[in-house]
Amino acid sequence: MTATDTTELRFTLNGTAMTRQVPTSRVLSDLLREDLALKGTNVACGRTVCGACTVLIDGVPRAACSTFAFEIEGAEVLTVEGLEGPDGLDPVQQAFARLSAFQCGFCTPGMILLVRALLDEVPDPDTETIRAHISSNICRCTGYGLILEAVKLASDIRSGKAAALPHKEART
Ligand code: FES
Ligand code: FES
Repeated sequence: MTATDTTELRFTLNGTAMTRQVPTSRVLSDLLREDLALKGTNVACGRTVCGACTVLIDGVPRAACSTFAFEIEGAEVLTVEGLEGPDGLDPVQQAFARLSAFQCGFCTPGMILLVRALLDEVPDPDTETIRAHISSNICRCTGYGLILEAVKLASDIRSGKAAALPHKEART
């Protein structure tokens, strides 16, 4: 295998089936950001340390910076751009927006996807479970307090214990 070898990839990205010819050396974050113009997948460390580039592959959080594109063959990939549905923002996005659980926002797309995966697995996580789960992702701004609250609020929105934001309010 050489750096110029290519492979044909079939995968589903944010609900849309795709086929792409990509170099075998291409990393997923470059495929998303450079080839598909999905800039919500942020890259900082580039070596599986910070979590800024987290995406979901078949529902599992993965660092896109250190995942080869060919690894998503046949998989369903979800990025932050795919979270909003016909009914509006995902409850996790709503909770982060309502509580302003971010400052610079650089970690936020990856954090939101990480939280979405947690709530899909554990709908009502306790504080220790949340702490353990989000420990893979670094936030240099918030001190994590509001992020913890946002996870709990997102859980309540999903279960109906808290009201969802009206679509318009959630986007402001
Ligand atoms: S940019 Fe991928 S883990 Fe930091
Ligand atoms: S909001 Fe700035 S790094 Fe998390």
